[in-house]
Amino acid sequence: MTALTLSTSSAAALRADAVVVGVIKGPKGPRLAPGAEAVDSAFDGGLAATLETLGATGGEGEVTKLPAPAGVKAAVVVAVGLGETPEDGSGPDAEALRKAAGSAARALAGAKKAAFALPAAEAADVEAVGTGALLGAYAFTAYQADGGKAPLGEVAVVGAKPRDKAHKAAVERAAAVASEVNRARDLINTPPNDLTPKAFAAAVKDAAKEFGLKVEVLDEKALIKGGYGGIMGVGQGSATPPRLVRVAYTHADAERTLAFVGKGITYDSGGISLKPPGHNETMKCDMSGAAAVFAAVVATAKLGLRVNVTGWLALAENMPGGGAVRPGDVLRMYGGKTVEVLNTDAEGRLVLADALVRASEERPDAIVDVATLTGAMILALGDGRFGIMSNDDGFRTRVHTTALAEGEDSWPMPLPKQLRKTFDSPTADIANIGARQGGGLVAGLFLKEFVGEGITWAHLDIAGPAFHEGAPFGYTPKGGTGTAVRTLVALARQAADGAF
Ligand code: BES
Ligand code: MN
Ligand code: ZN
Repeated sequence: MTALTLSTSSAAALRADAVVVGVIKGPKGPRLAPGAEAVDSAFDGGLAATLETLGATGGEGEVTKLPAPAGVKAAVVVAVGLGETPEDGSGPDAEALRKAAGSAARALAGAKKAAFALPAAEAADVEAVGTGALLGAYAFTAYQADGGKAPLGEVAVVGAKPRDKAHKAAVERAAAVASEVNRARDLINTPPNDLTPKAFAAAVKDAAKEFGLKVEVLDEKALIKGGYGGIMGVGQGSATPPRLVRVAYTHADAERTLAFVGKGITYDSGGISLKPPGHNETMKCDMSGAAAVFAAVVATAKLGLRVNVTGWLALAENMPGGGAVRPGDVLRMYGGKTVEVLNTDAEGRLVLADALVRASEERPDAIVDVATLTGAMILALGDGRFGIMSNDDGFRTRVHTTALAEGEDSWPMPLPKQLRKTFDSPTADIANIGARQGGGLVAGLFLKEFVGEGITWAHLDIAGPAFHEGAPFGYTPKGGTGTAVRTLVALARQAADGAF
């Protein structure tokens, strides 16, 4: 992965292939952002005018490359647009910095080292620039014969206070979190013939060894013996059997325990209720929730946060094999509740039900589940943001504001009581589908049935933002995005700080 360093020398004096400066869009044309001073001096103060002549406006995501003048060690200057800044004169916000750093890093693929001379007065700015650059530099090339174009080798953040403890910590946080978002992206992008439930569990075991996590894997025998009817039912049509993984980070002085639960369908064909063409091609992304949970647990460990975090990964492949669950079958879930399966494509809620009951047995202070659960949530919110549902309005607000601060777009959604009866079953305790209208909320209400009494719980439906099919922008690549990792880690930090 791309290395992240904090530079002690000035942007002009730094030995690098390129130096990145920020451009702000203004009413009178582009103007340079703080951090660009040394580079601008080498242009005799004419860099903004030169950029304007070249057609630059400072618009978000705009990248202009120009040869560096004498006085700048790097060969190339990369001017990246930060967009408009608030009228009150405050500088670009954290998300503008992340996006600009991401766009610049992507435009520098193939280069060895670049100095990032974006605004970095505060530690939070340094963290934003570092995070955006590392996320933007990401590339998934494992399946390309030539290895693809190498990502930018090193990001040197030119900090205002490179020896400041807070600035150093900001760089460490950015590196820990971004590398884990990128771990989640790698898992999501890995094709489903290679990332089976078993292979996913093996990857967790490897990381557990490396980062001192406790890991337990229930294989198909243990799942049958333990009565995990949801996970087994979904996985029984596949040639590659399911797994339930528990991966735990503990801190000796922790006062809070969080449980993160992830939907880990390594491929969702729909099962017997087979998806039509056009809906199958990206369904390797259906384990994005489990990937986010796993990555968040590792990031929490890397940061050594004073909190316990237990990750539960419900891993199965949803296939229409001869042994597959049929519409009409009744499954007995972990804990004893029965579910009539009326649509085998509503499989995420079935694997999550087992995992939520199991996670609840340990009585954590809060449970957050993450799942690419419904197409309905994409219809409601578009593909750029996840929906947040909860049994506690205060907690839902906390998750929403936390996500916003991390640059993860989301929106609070209700769990309307009236929809509960729409998944009544004539045969079993409940059915796995209900009203089509508000389908994302119906799925949330289904999950709520399996959360332990009195436990604070939130459900993130990430079906929209988990996998980006359009052109890359900012720090968002094509393919797996790693959405929700940063929100989960931020929640773990808040719990460690005793905020809830
Ligand atoms: N994995 C899908 C949801 C999904 C759709 C994720 C598109 C990402 C992109 C989920 O398992 C599913 O198939 N949900 C069904 C539920 C329905 C049958 C009640 C859906 O949303 O159509
Ligand atoms: Mn499905
Ligand atoms: Zn699914």
